[in-house]
Amino acid sequence: MDKTLQTGPVQLQGTCLVPGDKSISHRAIMFGAMAKGQTTAKHFLFSEDCLHTIGAFKALGVNIQTTTDSVTIDGVGLDGLKPPKGPLDMGNSGTSTRLLLGLLSRQAFDMDFIGDASLSKRPMGRVLDPLASMGAKFTATAGHLPVQVAANAHLKPLDYHIPVASAQVKSALIFAALQADGVSHLTEKLATRDHTERMLRYFGGDLTTAGLTLTVTPKQHLTGQDLTVPGDPSSAAFFITAATLLAGSDVLLPNVGLNTTRIGFLNIIGQMNGAISVEKMTEGFEPTGDLRVKHAQLTGVTITKEAIPAVIDELPLVALCATQAQGVTTISGAEELRVKETDRISTITQELRKMGANIEEKPDGMIITGPTPLHAVDTNLDSHGDHRIAMMLMVAALLSQDHFKLQNADAVNVSYPKFYEDLLALIY
Ligand code: S3P
Repeated sequence: MDKTLQTGPVQLQGTCLVPGDKSISHRAIMFGAMAKGQTTAKHFLFSEDCLHTIGAFKALGVNIQTTTDSVTIDGVGLDGLKPPKGPLDMGNSGTSTRLLLGLLSRQAFDMDFIGDASLSKRPMGRVLDPLASMGAKFTATAGHLPVQVAANAHLKPLDYHIPVASAQVKSALIFAALQADGVSHLTEKLATRDHTERMLRYFGGDLTTAGLTLTVTPKQHLTGQDLTVPGDPSSAAFFITAATLLAGSDVLLPNVGLNTTRIGFLNIIGQMNGAISVEKMTEGFEPTGDLRVKHAQLTGVTITKEAIPAVIDELPLVALCATQAQGVTTISGAEELRVKETDRISTITQELRKMGANIEEKPDGMIITGPTPLHAVDTNLDSHGDHRIAMMLMVAALLSQDHFKLQNADAVNVSYPKFYEDLLALIY
């Protein structure tokens, strides 16, 4: 679907309650199913990705009820799942695929995992290889979907240094380690989002952490819980970017997740001289806060590999901010961007260049020199089917007074179906 985009001059004013966190919504379904008893997750994210996780567990015989805002799961435990009647369709969702490959690696029946064209190009060897060394049985071509999972009664414990900084890989291995015949040790390269660890504890389980090493003991007893999913900081980042870049803006984003493993974007905008303040902080199973964002003149920044995991999903927005910042912004150590829903180093560079941005593509990042006015050099912008590229371009168009058409605009449904509506509601 193509969309004609709203352009400037505009500013953002008002309050926006951003939808629930995507990573936490996926995990709420997974833990809810693995636990005994009922789980209710309020402010759940009903986006295409999370619906694929719900669909998979329904296909595995789990009773899941939904309202407009919440989801209730009748937990069955890991031994209570039923053989699905057809393939488990993961759609576009890397998180569903990787986490479920771990979670379902010791079941008494076979399963087929399938996904869309983009997901079928993304690397799954990063979870299949360590899971196979635990004794899980897969058939896959060149480490990609479709994957056949064979029935398997035992998993060996794992001692593993995860070679890629990935919370998806870590989470898949935690789920498998919970079902292994002994204690597992997993060591991360860099700290990545810890929602799985937090939710495991919240559901009554435990794991120990020492530096970057996690120790996971198997056969834990998990009990269903009630929770409220925090607002997604990755979705909030689109409004933070728009308010920062549009003169006169002032927006309030209540109840946004502020887990330290997810606030890389806030820190980077701070380093770039942005004007974001946290008005109220609450500590729960995940910390949250109300964010106030005002317009600011940004300056360039240098971002290196240690900072990447906490900002991985917001790098398209860092690039957009950098086009409006004074000076040079360098992003390096971000080669993981090449294996996201699209090769984001390439799609960011291509699309922002069409608007006149000065971006140099590097194998592991970008060098962006600003400020450059954004305008319609070529009016055919394209999300390439990537939700975060689509939303970044919708924000970028607000900086120009030209006409823009965005191809494949409906990619936003993957993580934020009402994004454009919510953006327009803040425009003044
Ligand atoms: C996610 C982890 C990140 C992130 C993705 C969601 C998760 O992927 O990019 O959008 O929920 O664990 P990687 O861990 O593979 O970097």
